[in-house]
Formats: sequence, structure tokens, C-alpha cells
Amino acid sequence: MIKLEGVKKAFGTQQVLDGVDFHVPEGHSLVIMGPSGSGKSVILKHIIGLLNADAGRVSVMGKNVAELDRSGLRELRRDMGYLFQHSALINWLSVFDNLALPLRETTKMSNSEIRARVMHVLDLVQLSAAENKLPSEISGGMQKRVGLARALVTEPNIILYDEPEAGLDPEMSASVSHMMRELKEEHGMTSVTVTHSVSCALTVADTLAVFEKGRFLISGPPTEVLNSKHERVREFLGAQLD
Ligand SMILES: Nc1ncnc2c1ncn2[C@@H]1O[C@H](COP(=O)(O)OP(=O)(O)OP(=O)(O)O)[C@@H](O)[C@H]1O
Ligand SMILES: [Mg+2]
Repeated sequence: MIKLEGVKKAFGTQQVLDGVDFHVPEGHSLVIMGPSGSGKSVILKHIIGLLNADAGRVSVMGKNVAELDRSGLRELRRDMGYLFQHSALINWLSVFDNLALPLRETTKMSNSEIRARVMHVLDLVQLSAAENKLPSEISGGMQKRVGLARALVTEPNIILYDEPEAGLDPEMSASVSHMMRELKEEHGMTSVTVTHSVSCALTVADTLAVFEKGRFLISGPPTEVLNSKHERVREFLGAQLD
């Protein structure tokens, strides 16, 4: 469903992705962990076509993302939700309109259908009461959940989560992780998640991969990776496991 083959990306002299390969089959959940600044968000941006690789190939549902034209990209983004690391809400639009926008842009839904869909996803993230508020009038954690609702609003088959737990209290963070797992189990959602939280990774991952210096150090079933003898992997994950 999502395939990266030999993907390389440099910014100036900094080689951020140095031959990245992975395949996420339909219904599968890949979780990526790794140090801050290593390039995890850059990987997600290649999958959704916000960045193009210098070399290698990124394909989603059989299509080479770099070769899509505007309408191809629009179609891709309707099928793929993206929870941005920083919620990236439009600050002059209400919560309701932030969520309605992708539906107005990518579907022919009527206003009443849009209202029903938006209220449904707002309810999922327990924010129905915030529909008329501006992003600046709600807390950071609430903005994050609106971002999640926006990623879900087009009912995508694939979802990319960039630090879904960041800025949430432990209870809300656990509830978001469980929602992610339910989306996978009940709707067969395919996903790639970037997180710094081992507990989020354990809740949602079929495959856990650790990324550093442009490449994956290890990837496999989460318990295997957490118990790995790989020195650098132990050092990195150990900080949270102690
Ligand atoms: N558009 C860009 N132009 C130039 N440099 C960039 C760009 N996007 C990312 N970078 C650089 O690429 C590196 C990786 O960035 P990225 O945002 O992927 O890190 P990350 O692994 O997601 O870190 P964090 O865990 O802190 O979010 C950083 O050094 C960053 O400065
Ligand atoms: Mg990031």
C-alpha cells in the first residue's frame, strides 16, 4: 500500500534520508521512533507528496507520488489523512470550518452531509462543544485533537500520524492511542505513525522501526525491537523503559 525504495533526501549538505526502504501492506500499522531532528517528519512528508525525493521512489496504492499532477495529489490527499506534528489549523476559521474545508475542497457533499460528518468526527475526539471556537480559543491538546479529527474527516484509507500523543495529558494520550488502534481493527486503516512514546508504539504498532542517521537501525514486531540487543537501539529506547 505504501512503499519506499532507496529514498534519499538532502537539505543543502545535510543528508537526512540516506536510502530509506519499507513497505506497509494494507491494514498494517508501522510505527517509527528515532531521535529528534533525525528525519521522521520528512519521511511522512514524502509519503503525502509535500516533499520529493532526490533519489528512489515513493509509491502509495501503486502510484509514484512524485509523478502525480495536481488532481492526482488532491485525490491522494483525500485517501490519506495527515495529522501534522503542529496541528496546522487555519487560525481564522472556526473548528467546524477547519474540518469542513477538506470536504468542501475534495468532495461534492451537501452542506447537511458535511455538517453530519464534521460533528461525527468532533464527537470521536470529544470536542463537539468546541465547533464554533477559533483554534486560538482552545488549548494545545484540544488543537491536537481537532487536527486528528481533520485527518479523519474525509474517511481516508491511510492515515499518517506525526506525534499524535504530543501535548496531550496521559489519559487523553492513551485514549488517542486506543482510537488509533480501533481505526485499524474496525476499519482496516493503514497507517504510519511517528512517536516518541513507547506506550503509544506498543498500542498501535504491527511493526516498530527505529530511524537514525538517514536509515532504519532495526524494524520488526514491537516486543522484538524493544528486547533487541542492538546497542544503539537499546540506548535510545532504554531511556524510556528504565
Ligand atoms: N523543508 C526543509 N528545509 C530544510 N531543512 C529541513 C526541511 N525539513 C526538514 N529539514 C531538516 O531535516 C532534519 C529532519 O527534520 P524532521 O522534521 O524530519 O525531524 P524529526 O525526526 O521529525 O524530529 P522531531 O522528533 O523533533 O520532530 C532537520 O535537521 C530539519 O532541520
Ligand atoms: Mg517531527
